[in-house]
Amino acid sequence: MTATTTTQQPVSGAALRQRFVEFFLERGSVELPSASLVPRDPTVLLTIAGMQQMIPFFLGLETPPDVRLCSVQKCFRTVDIDEVGDASHLTFFEMLGNFSVGDYFKEGAIHFAWELMTRVYGIPKDRLWVTVYPTDETARTVWRDQIGVPASRIVADETNWWGPVGATGPCGPDSELHYDRGPEYGCGQPDCSPTCDRPGCNRFLETWNLVFMEFYRDEQGVDTPLPRPNIDTGMGLERLAMVMQGKESVYETDLYLPIVERAAGLAHVRYGADERTDRALRVLADHSRAVTFLIADGVLPGNEGRGYVLRRVLRRAVRYGRLLGLERPFLTETAQVVIDIMGDRYPELRERRDYIFRIIRHEEEAFGRTLAHGLSRFETLAAGVKAEGRTTIPGAEVFRLYDTYGFPFDLTVELAQEQGLEIERAEFDEAMQAQRQLSRGASRFAQESHRDLELYAGLRLPPTDFLGYDEDRAGGEVLAIVGPDGPQAAAEAGQRVEVILDRTPFYAEAGGQVGDTGVLAGGDGRFAVEDTQRPVPGLTAHRGVVAEGVIRLGDTVEAAIDAERRADIRRNHTATHLLHRALRLVLGTHAQQAGSLVAPDRLRFDFTHLQALTPEELQQVGAIANGAVLAAEPVYADWMPQREALATGAMALFGEKYGDTVRVVTVEDFSKELCGGTHVGNTGEIGPILVTGESSVASGVRRIEALTGRGALAYAGQLQQIAGTLAGALHAPVPDLPAQVEGLRGRIRDLEREVERLQARLAGGQVETLLRQARQVDGTAVLAARVEAPNQDTLRRLGDSLRDRLGSGVLLLGTVFGERPALLAVVTPDLVARGLKAGALLNATAGVMGGRGGGRPDLAQGGGGDPARLDAALAAVPGLVQRALHEKD
Ligand code: SER
Repeated sequence: MTATTTTQQPVSGAALRQRFVEFFLERGSVELPSASLVPRDPTVLLTIAGMQQMIPFFLGLETPPDVRLCSVQKCFRTVDIDEVGDASHLTFFEMLGNFSVGDYFKEGAIHFAWELMTRVYGIPKDRLWVTVYPTDETARTVWRDQIGVPASRIVADETNWWGPVGATGPCGPDSELHYDRGPEYGCGQPDCSPTCDRPGCNRFLETWNLVFMEFYRDEQGVDTPLPRPNIDTGMGLERLAMVMQGKESVYETDLYLPIVERAAGLAHVRYGADERTDRALRVLADHSRAVTFLIADGVLPGNEGRGYVLRRVLRRAVRYGRLLGLERPFLTETAQVVIDIMGDRYPELRERRDYIFRIIRHEEEAFGRTLAHGLSRFETLAAGVKAEGRTTIPGAEVFRLYDTYGFPFDLTVELAQEQGLEIERAEFDEAMQAQRQLSRGASRFAQESHRDLELYAGLRLPPTDFLGYDEDRAGGEVLAIVGPDGPQAAAEAGQRVEVILDRTPFYAEAGGQVGDTGVLAGGDGRFAVEDTQRPVPGLTAHRGVVAEGVIRLGDTVEAAIDAERRADIRRNHTATHLLHRALRLVLGTHAQQAGSLVAPDRLRFDFTHLQALTPEELQQVGAIANGAVLAAEPVYADWMPQREALATGAMALFGEKYGDTVRVVTVEDFSKELCGGTHVGNTGEIGPILVTGESSVASGVRRIEALTGRGALAYAGQLQQIAGTLAGALHAPVPDLPAQVEGLRGRIRDLEREVERLQARLAGGQVETLLRQARQVDGTAVLAARVEAPNQDTLRRLGDSLRDRLGSGVLLLGTVFGERPALLAVVTPDLVARGLKAGALLNATAGVMGGRGGGRPDLAQGGGGDPARLDAALAAVPGLVQRALHEKD
């Protein structure tokens, strides 16, 4: 089949990206850097479109750096994971987008798109078709009358509606550009068009989606107009490259081919020779990109959420690698190609290369082991099912594979299909459901924050002016009071509400720093603030209870934070910056912040690192951080454009989103971080930093905990007191305590040995007395006696001594350890030869007490049962021996 053609020379993916951005920069847009694949909105799993970071702008909650914007956004869509491997489905992709925040609308967006596609990219006009929302007459008219697209190539399509991302959010009709690859790719029907869904019809390729973002959809599904209509467009770079490079699939473009070729080289196969092999190579190409980018943005393999997405694609890649005969770990090799070809555009890949590789290796090796276990378990299962003449694998077994062996469900399905078997889905779902019930609590947070977004977006409040960098108290006006049932005009004593002011010194929880507490006083009431949160970006909500009187809308109140508590928080926040820097100095730059808690009484700092820190490393980290305290370095914050900030080397965090102007917190001569939190003015204010713990939180993430300032002093005071008490008790000065304790432990060891020796001697002393108790039973010496022995060892030794002295005979010794009877039976070799068995004798004796035991013919141990029946059991022994002697005759 001939390749899709254009009149253009092949142009690289990088050049296509650049031309897109340049085109919109020339038209007055500001380029925003790609947001992280991990979205800021906790209710959304991953970034699936360029518009996500624009949502606060569209909703009027945040001011954009410009009304015209453009971006190249890293995107990840999970819906098609199972389809990846065919010609067009992808997980990770790059989306080229231009955005208008209340500036140009339909006409402008359509003109820009047409000009770029036909004039800049040079795509022949007659290759382009468009679809419009059926009732969108404006878009249809612009395409037909202003652009000149023939009416026959403008198709109504009711699926042309975008959004919202999640249950609520901005949405609107859209219009798509489709590239006509030629009738030879189509179904041949006269009505074939971009909406054609006949099987095998691949004539039209959707390339660019122009969204006319006009509405906000609420939880009831009702659309209300946004403050201003906006534009959001998105074009997949990979598809554009496929068109412009005249390729049959995205995998043959320069964005993928080097990865495909590397995978083919590793597996000693050739791309294009065989469909099954090609499919596996395409899976490896897509998933290698997916894994590399997800890890670079801070996602770690896990069993839920985005961690599970990462685990799933990584495991799927490994499994497809196995199909190609790649038995050993290979993913870092293909990830290296991804970094080579994408690292210029996405420098984070190069910076985090070592870290990315470590995570891949760790997970790939672990999965290799899981795969081996799970596969053999699956083979047994499948063989069993077939042997019984059935074709369905029970869901409970599939769940067991999943739950116990960590074997992914989709993998079981694929394996079953390969063997012509099915899976009992309902039973599996039921088991999964039961498991989910257990972890239900986890999603409550997401639901709550969704309600907030909905409610506060509806109130359309202006962003709160935050004064808390400089002020502890300030006057503000009550703009909203929100109770459990929604907004209210006033709140009385005892009522729990959220209060929104126009300005406030209260810091709302963000970036790990907890919210402030304090008081709002004025009008006719006092409001005790127990927590401060940010329900939607830019808005501060004071949460708490009306302590006295009434708080009303429009009241002017004096907002005062608990200043002492905040001073503690400031110390802890600056200390996290010092520790972050110290960790990177000691461990390397892969140690990146992966979460933190900055509370008044403690701090917690999570960072990416695979092994536990050695005591020396921990000690070094503490010394460096405290060194910065002793140097009493000034700490200050500056606002600057994001690009400038990153150029100064300021550390940005995974998954955080920063607007165009960012705040950089500098500890002079020590660290620079993008941070919105509150800090001390000089590191000397922090006081001592005491690291109190180091532990693991997830695979590849470590945590350190520390105390500063008053907390550290209180802790040190406590330690001092404990040391003083010990010194008093041991009559030794504090510095001697370790040696004293070591000495005590040595003495305890010696004494224990002495006790053992004495016990053995005591036991030995019983030997003579006991020997005298031996009786003859049909000519055989039988000794059954209760003895003194503190433990099993002594009992054994006593048995040995008695046997040696007895020469020939049967021994049954009984004692009680605590509440539990214990028995030992010994039969000398000559009697064993005559058929007597210590094991059988012991078992029968123990049976008298309700206990049991057993062992070899010459030696057996046991016990249990009722200690009060020990003497009765021992009394039974001669009879038992006699019976045994007779039985053998
Ligand atoms: N939001 C639209 C899409 O992702 C256009 O950017 O297709």
